[in-house]
Amino acid sequence: ALAQEAVKIGLILPMTGPFASTGRQIEAAAKLYMQQQGDTVAGRKIQLILKDDTGVADVTKRLAQELIVNDKIAVMAGFGLTPLALAPAPLATQAKVPQVVMAAATATITEASPFIVRTSFTLPQATVPMAEWAAENGIKKVVTLVSDYGPGIDAEKAFTGAFTAKGGQVENLRVPLANPDFSPFLQKVADAKPDALFVFVPSGIGAQFMKQFVERGLDKSGIKLIGPGDVTDDDILNGMGDVALGAITTQHYSAAHDSPENKAFVEAFKKANPNMRPNFMAVGGYDGMHLIYEGLKKTGGQGGQALIDAMKGMSWTSPRGPVSIDPQTRDIIQNIYVRKVERRDGELYNVEFATIPNVKDPVKAAK
Ligand code: DHB
Repeated sequence: ALAQEAVKIGLILPMTGPFASTGRQIEAAAKLYMQQQGDTVAGRKIQLILKDDTGVADVTKRLAQELIVNDKIAVMAGFGLTPLALAPAPLATQAKVPQVVMAAATATITEASPFIVRTSFTLPQATVPMAEWAAENGIKKVVTLVSDYGPGIDAEKAFTGAFTAKGGQVENLRVPLANPDFSPFLQKVADAKPDALFVFVPSGIGAQFMKQFVERGLDKSGIKLIGPGDVTDDDILNGMGDVALGAITTQHYSAAHDSPENKAFVEAFKKANPNMRPNFMAVGGYDGMHLIYEGLKKTGGQGGQALIDAMKGMSWTSPRGPVSIDPQTRDIIQNIYVRKVERRDGELYNVEFATIPNVKDPVKAAK
């Protein structure tokens, strides 16, 4: 008999360019998952094919096309930024190839194709709890500063809507995504003297932001730093220094999350990648691989419609806590934690102190 062909997973990530930290984190986590779980599922060999899209959407689309047509992948995964997740969506639909979004987080992404499923998060999902915490903790006036594209606009709208509904006052600022210079915006923040500055920048960019925050003297202004957890992401947090101490953020993952599953994950991740700490991108990649493996177990190695159907409604215990795939929206339902940056054993961590359980994407829940 002919040997059965391997089941191929196309993993498309920004491995170079300004968003390479997202690519590195997800690659490391996906490889860790395969190292732990083996490379055979339902009696079929699993082959991971990694491609670098350099963070350019046209490249993501071309690579997806080649992987579908030439390599005959069963599933594609990765997608480090919103434009990179949206570009191949029509191909997923046309070819009926499931597209597992492990990183990108604009709410509407899962509506771009019925073959998209997401293991990261949505910005409104992470942000509404931040607005509620701020309103309940004496913060009355906020300036929002967000990267000017999908997830930043989602974060701005979610925060502004929820915070003003509780009587808060908000001023909105947007900074370009590419090569951002935060200083003119930070000057406006210094002049406005809000109780808090709400920030969204994509993973990996927080360090640049923090540097300019200090250069403008905002660390000594008494203006509190709040936002979804992207700005204090675990990949770069420890290098930020004291400026990050006390920042309050809301998100689905911290390397300091206190559970046996997370302790095991962080330890194994660090052992395999000695100079890295897993961040929320890593957990999106790790859980994305879990979803693919468990889906393939159910389908006996088949991709296509059977695989996306098998993924709907799946639930498991992630390093981040309990999660499930919403069968209606194909988004992930998960806990959102309120965290404060603290020093623990000489390192900076997002230390969780409150949990909002089983949060759905609020944008789709409202439809
Ligand atoms: C997106 C990218 C990020 O790095 C992040 O932290 C959140 C969202 C995005 O482009 O969707």
